[in-house]
Amino acid sequence: MVSFGTRPEAIKMIPVYQELKKYPELFEVTLVVTGQHREMLDQVLSLYDIYPDFDIMSLNQSLTDITNVLELKYNELFEQERPDLVLVHGDTTTALVAAFEAFYHKIKVGHVEAGLRTYDRYNPFPEEINRQLIGRFASLHFAPTLKAKENLIKENVQGKIWVTGNTAIDTLFLNLNKEYSDSLLESIDADKMIILTTHRRENLGKAMEQIFLAIEELSREWPEYSIIYPVHMNPKIRQMAHKFLENISNVHLIDPLDVIGFHHYLKKAKIILTDSGGIQEEAPSLGKPVLVLRETTERPEGVTVGTLKLVGTNRTTIVNEVNKLLTDDSYYQTFVTAKNPYGDGSASKQIVSALKGIYYKEY
Ligand code: UD1
Ligand code: UDP
Repeated sequence: MVSFGTRPEAIKMIPVYQELKKYPELFEVTLVVTGQHREMLDQVLSLYDIYPDFDIMSLNQSLTDITNVLELKYNELFEQERPDLVLVHGDTTTALVAAFEAFYHKIKVGHVEAGLRTYDRYNPFPEEINRQLIGRFASLHFAPTLKAKENLIKENVQGKIWVTGNTAIDTLFLNLNKEYSDSLLESIDADKMIILTTHRRENLGKAMEQIFLAIEELSREWPEYSIIYPVHMNPKIRQMAHKFLENISNVHLIDPLDVIGFHHYLKKAKIILTDSGGIQEEAPSLGKPVLVLRETTERPEGVTVGTLKLVGTNRTTIVNEVNKLLTDDSYYQTFVTAKNPYGDGSASKQIVSALKGIYYKEY
């Protein structure tokens, strides 16, 4: 059973699901989609003709709301289906609840994107503790990098660990080979686009206010640049974004893009500002500088190779960092030449090949 419920999980788990489906003689595969997200998840699912199994999202949902409702849903599901293995992804509430309910039912858990750590319990919140806990429940750990594997070894997790790369790269490469265009993308000159995304719970409030003030200042300093901000569907974020950034001619507040579109926007961007996890993995493959709007990251590999820079959420720091990239080309180039540390686009194949090895020794 492959299970997920949010946009980023869908983007990174659908390639695993599709790869498993190639072997009907080996695996009976079911997909369970919780609908922790609605619009943003459906945007991804509709590209693949997949529909959510549960419709659990409520507006301004709390972590407790999601956890409570999912516990009962997974309990019922596991009682009925009793899969041999549940594959969960990363660190969302959906993944945590699926993993612990599977454990209660003594069903084996496989963790895709295992071993990412900041070791800072409130950054990102609640994801850091979610993924540490999932690491305890899981017995198959698919780590994207060697560093992630080392974290798991240090923690003495039980079971087996593989280093596979990140499935985000599988999807990215597939999407960049697809045709995409829209009028906004076409209207912006190459090299004159800055992309912003921000949605982390720990950035809601003061930190996000600082980010938006920095964007407003940059839009005045750099009128020839278009700042594209696909605004997360979280109503709290949408309200703030419109309050601070509406009616600025070179700031485009747009709805979330479907993932094929977003990957093409990334490819054309000059700089990316983000607190997202997945975008930190995708941008290094494209050689794009990413200013990470967070105090810590569980993706230190991108910082080490030089594509990512942690800048936090202070307005002045953000403005200065963007100015430096836009005025000092040799500095900018140090980000561009960096290598992608998150795999070659074969992570899903490697995960499925590991599963073949476990369940069918001859593979
Ligand atoms: C969750 C994940 C986080 C991931 C993020 C991706 C957890 C603990 N966190 O964040 O790791 O980075 O998703 O976006 O699971 N909403 C809509 N429409 C949508 C999606 C969300 O209205 O399509 C609203 C929800 O009602 C909710 C808010 O946005 O009020 C936040 O959604 P939620 O799933 O609670 O997201 P996060 O916990 O912030
Ligand atoms: N993404 C997308 N449309 C957008 C913005 C982002 O499809 O408008 C993709 C992005 O390419 C990445 C994923 O969404 O694969 C990241 O999701 P998000 O930032 O919501 O969550 P996180 O990765 O932080 O958990």
